[in-house]
Amino acid sequence: MRKCKICGNLVKTIVNFGKMPLANGFVRDIPKDEFKFPLIVGFCPVCYMVQLEETVKPNQMFNENYAFISSTSNAMAKHFEEYANHIMRDIIKGKKNPFVVELGSNDGIMLKHIAKNNIMHLGVEPSHNVAELARANGVNTIEAFFNKETAEIILNKYGKADVICGANVMCHIENINSVYEGVNVLLKDDGVLFFEDPYIYDIVLKNSFDQIYDEHVFYFSGLSISQLAKRHGMQLIDMKHQEVHGGSMRYYIKKGFVNKQSKEVDNYIEKEKKLNMDKYEGYVKFKDNVKNVCKDLKNLLVKIKKEGNRIVGYGATSKSTTLLNYAKIGPDLIDYICDITPTKINKYTPGTYIPIKSYEHFVKDNVSYVLLLAWNHKEEILKKETRFRERGGKFITFFPKVIVE
Ligand code: TYD
Repeated sequence: MRKCKICGNLVKTIVNFGKMPLANGFVRDIPKDEFKFPLIVGFCPVCYMVQLEETVKPNQMFNENYAFISSTSNAMAKHFEEYANHIMRDIIKGKKNPFVVELGSNDGIMLKHIAKNNIMHLGVEPSHNVAELARANGVNTIEAFFNKETAEIILNKYGKADVICGANVMCHIENINSVYEGVNVLLKDDGVLFFEDPYIYDIVLKNSFDQIYDEHVFYFSGLSISQLAKRHGMQLIDMKHQEVHGGSMRYYIKKGFVNKQSKEVDNYIEKEKKLNMDKYEGYVKFKDNVKNVCKDLKNLLVKIKKEGNRIVGYGATSKSTTLLNYAKIGPDLIDYICDITPTKINKYTPGTYIPIKSYEHFVKDNVSYVLLLAWNHKEEILKKETRFRERGGKFITFFPKVIVE
């Protein structure tokens, strides 16, 4: 048992996935000895935070080799354009010289829309390679991890922020208390902190356990975020559900405790309590569901292979590292994984060493079965792959259960 990263109380283990490589640790050559760490997810019964019990040092994950590029999906590009419009239309409209800060701004997929409108902005991004892409997109970016010290540097150079936001970044930051300390320094008294991350309610309900990997230190709920905000003298004032990443939640937070709170916060927390997410018991079944879906998927792949078919993976996602390693699905079952991200092509998947090939390679290949690893882009991919399906190709999906369609 480990201490909770938020409140210091003891965390109870939900699932122990065993030793795992880095989810984005795609390798050019098959290594003799790969870095691995124990992937264990647990629950704090005091502040309700679901979290990794063991973590990897941030600069081991987010460095100049970081392979994750945000702008690889049309749906995500649209999502972040709407995110930027939401800031401009609903949050900073009417404010004099507003200042928008985004944490983990990646290649500028969101902030470029803010930049285009000549709004003062700053991306805070620790990975050099993606920060460079953001600059090329016209996005003002500093290379740093956000905390109190970074907040003070930004404050001295630019002044206080009207908005501090992030998407799929807060859940990455182990010392999240230091982020809130930084927000308290940098955010205006009437400013808004908002962020979105995969929602633990969706993960448990859909059994999408592959969201659990090294980079995702936390799995938030309304229950846990309201506690975390309170610790730092802030209040959770609104929640908006997002369809991305298989179900994410956007949380809005303001300084102080006398802000107007939307009824959505109470509604979501009520729903979470109905699933017992404020108790360890709420997570017990999840462990069995994870084991069962892995067993079913592996059995199906073995059967398809035995029948003389080839299987290809679609989307070398970070999350598939958990699925492939935990279910022990390797190149004996999957010929290769196709992906459109240049930084992944011609590399191997972490731990399982399945080759990654270009999309063009897949299009020319006459494969019958595709394991949809990028299941969060199912709609976009199925639309794109009508020809594959017309010629009898089948997609295999696996949440909440294994389906061939
Ligand atoms: P992503 O959704 O970011 O998931 P994760 O956070 O788990 O990495 O990754 C999607 C991956 O799928 C990314 O590597 C790009 C790839 N992809 C394709 O190859 N083709 C596509 O049409 C889409 C939508 C994604």
